[in-house]
Amino acid sequence: MKTIRALIFDLDGVITDTAEYHYLAWKRLADEEGIPFTREDNEALRGVSRRGSLDRMLKGRPIDEETAQAWMTRKNHYYVGYLDKITPADLLPGVQQLLDEAKRLGLLVSIGSASKNAKLVLNKLGLGAAFDAIGDGYSVVNTKPAPDLFIWVAGRLDVYPPQAIVIEDAEAGIDAARQGGFLTVGIGASTANCADIHYDDVASIVLVDVLNRLAAD
Ligand code: BG6
Ligand code: MG
Repeated sequence: MKTIRALIFDLDGVITDTAEYHYLAWKRLADEEGIPFTREDNEALRGVSRRGSLDRMLKGRPIDEETAQAWMTRKNHYYVGYLDKITPADLLPGVQQLLDEAKRLGLLVSIGSASKNAKLVLNKLGLGAAFDAIGDGYSVVNTKPAPDLFIWVAGRLDVYPPQAIVIEDAEAGIDAARQGGFLTVGIGASTANCADIHYDDVASIVLVDVLNRLAAD
C-alpha cells in the first residue's frame, strides 16, 4: 500500500471554468488581428502557457518578439477584465466538498496552475487561504507538459511525487504529472485516455475510492 499525502489541483478547468474567458480573450485579439480562431482551436490551448497559447493561435504565422509581447499583454488585459465577473459562486460543482473531504482525511491540498493570474482567480473565488501551497505561472520557468511545476509544489508540501495525486483537465497537465512520477486523476474529455483514473467532472470524484485504488496500484 502506498501512502498518499497530498492533492495538487490544476486551477483552470478543475476549480473553476476560466477556459471560456481565456477563449473570449484570445478570440477578441485574433478577431482584431484578422486571425481565424475557433472554439475548437481553443481546445488545443487548454493547460498551455500564455506564450505557448499565442504560438498555437498563430499556427505558424510569423510575428516579431515585440509584437508577440504586445499581443500577450493585450490578451491578458482582456482576460483580467473578464475575471472581474468571478465570485465564489463560480466554483465548479463538487470542488468545495472535495476540499472539505480531503482536509477531513488529513491530506494536504495545493494548486499547480500554469497561470500567472492563479492567485487573483483564487482570491475572487474566496479560496485565497484554502491551500497549503500554490504553484503558479511565476513559480517555474518550464511550464506543463514539463513536470517542473508539480515538482515545485511537492517540494513546498514536503512530499514525494508518488505521494501526491494531480487532478487535471488538460492532457498537457496529465503528461506533466506522469513525467514527474505523480498519481493522476483526469477530468473531462481531454484526459479520458491518459490519466490513472478518469471522471467526467469534479462532482463525480469519490475521494475514498480514488485513494483506495491509487494506494493499492
Ligand atoms: C492555464 C490555462 O491554466 O494557464 C491556459 O489552462 C492559460 O489556458 C495558462 O493559457 C496561462 O494563463 P495566464 O493567466 O498566465 O495567461
Ligand atoms: Mg486546466
